[in-house]
Amino acid sequence: MKQIIINGKKELSGEIAIGGAKNSAVALIPASLLSSGKCKIYKVPNISDKDALFEILEVLNVKASFEDTTVTIDSSNIKNVVIPEDLSNKLRASYYFMGVLLARFKHVEIYFPGGCNIGTRPIDLHLKGFVALGVNITHDEQTHKYILDAKNLTGSRINLDFASVGATINLMFAASLAKGTTIITNAAKEIEIINIADYLNKMGADIKGAGTSTITINGVTKLHEAQIDVIPDRIEAGTYLMVGAMIGNNLTVSGIVPNQIKALFDKFDDMGIKYIIDKDKVTISKCNNIKPINIKTLVYPGFPTDLGQPISVVLTQANGVSLFEETIWESRMQHVKYLNKMGANIKLNDSTHSIITGPTPLKGCEINATDLRGGAALVMAGLIADGTTKISNIEYILRGYENLVKKLRQVGADIKIIDEN
Ligand code: UD1
Repeated sequence: MKQIIINGKKELSGEIAIGGAKNSAVALIPASLLSSGKCKIYKVPNISDKDALFEILEVLNVKASFEDTTVTIDSSNIKNVVIPEDLSNKLRASYYFMGVLLARFKHVEIYFPGGCNIGTRPIDLHLKGFVALGVNITHDEQTHKYILDAKNLTGSRINLDFASVGATINLMFAASLAKGTTIITNAAKEIEIINIADYLNKMGADIKGAGTSTITINGVTKLHEAQIDVIPDRIEAGTYLMVGAMIGNNLTVSGIVPNQIKALFDKFDDMGIKYIIDKDKVTISKCNNIKPINIKTLVYPGFPTDLGQPISVVLTQANGVSLFEETIWESRMQHVKYLNKMGANIKLNDSTHSIITGPTPLKGCEINATDLRGGAALVMAGLIADGTTKISNIEYILRGYENLVKKLRQVGADIKIIDEN
C-alpha cells in the first residue's frame, strides 16, 4: 500500500513547472483514434489516468508510446473489440471511446465509466446526444454494458440540459464524422473543449464555436493525422498557487495561462492574497492575514469545482467564517472529516454546503484520500500542518497530479511516497 508522508511547515520557494491539463489529455488521447494516421500529442502529463487509457488502446490494437511527455498514437491496425469492464471502470474518460468509436465504426461495446466517487455521475446526456445523431443503444441493467450501434450518424440539433464537459466533447467526436451539421446548444465552455476542438480541426474537422455555449460541427467524411499541444493544467496550477498562499516564500508557478485561472485570482483578491503575474509565471508568498470569503463552484468561467476542495484548506487559515457551496457534484465533501481530524473547524450543513471557521492550526495525523482533488487538499493540509501527516489511498491523487511529490520536494517540502506491503 502506497502512502504519502509529509513533515509539514516547511517554507516553499523556487519554481514549480505546470504540466499539461489532465482533462484535456484524457480526451485528446482517445480523439487520436478518429484518424488512422500517426498522431502526436505534446505536453502530456505523466499521470496514471494516461496509463489506464493506454491499456484500452492496447486492447484495441492501437500502437501508443509515451516519451518525454510526447504521446504518439498509430491506430492504422485498430480492432473495434469490446472494451472490458475492468478497463472501462478504471477512469471516467473511458467514455470518450464511445464518441470516437461511433464516429469511426458506428459501433461500440463498452461498460459504464469509472472515476472518482464524487456524485452519481450519470452519462444520460452523452447517450441522449448519441441517440439524436441516430444511434441505437442497448444497456444491460445488470452488467452496465452498453452497445451503441448506428447505420449512419446524422447531424442534429442537441440542447444539453446541463453544460456537461464530457457530453460536449463526446458529441463533438461523434458529430465530426456524421453526415450533415450538428449544433450543440448549452455546450460546456471549459477551455479544455477549445483544446480538443483545435485538435479535431487540425485533423480536418469543421468545428466552430468551441469555448462558447453554441458549437457547430459540419460533419466531414475523413479525418487525417495531426499534432497538438496539451494546454497547461489550470487545476494543478491553482493547487500549487494555493499552497504558495499558505506556506510559500516567493514560490513561482510557471508555464500557466493566468487568464485561464482568473476565477481563482479573483478569489485571491477578495482574500487579500497577493501575487505577481509575469507572463506565464505567477509568484506568491504566504499571506498572514487571509480574509474569509463566500465561494460557490460553477461551470467555466466560474470558480472550478476541481479547485473547491483545495480552496477549502486555504479557508481553514482565513480569519473568520467562510461559506462554501458545491454546485456541480453531490459528494465532494468527503475530505472534510479528515481536515477536521487535523484540527480544522468545518461544519457540513449537507453534502454540498459547508461553513469553514478559521484560522485553525492543523496537526499531522493519519488520513485517507477519498478522491483526486480531495486527496490533493489533504496534501495541502499536510504541508501546513505541525508534525507528520500520513495519507493513504494515494492512487486517487496520482491519477491526476503529475510528479506531485517530486515537484513539491524541489521547492523544499519534506514529502515522500512509501510503499509498504
Ligand atoms: C469533467 C472533469 C471533472 C470536472 C467536471 C466539471 C474530465 C475527465 N473530468 O467531468 O474533473 O469536475 O468536468 O468541471 O474532464 N451530468 C449528468 N449527465 C451526464 C453528464 C453529466 O447529469 O450525462 C452531470 C454530472 O452528474 C454533474 C454535471 O453534469 O453533476 C457535470 O458533469 P460533467 O461536466 O459531465 O463532468 P465530467 O465531464 O464527468
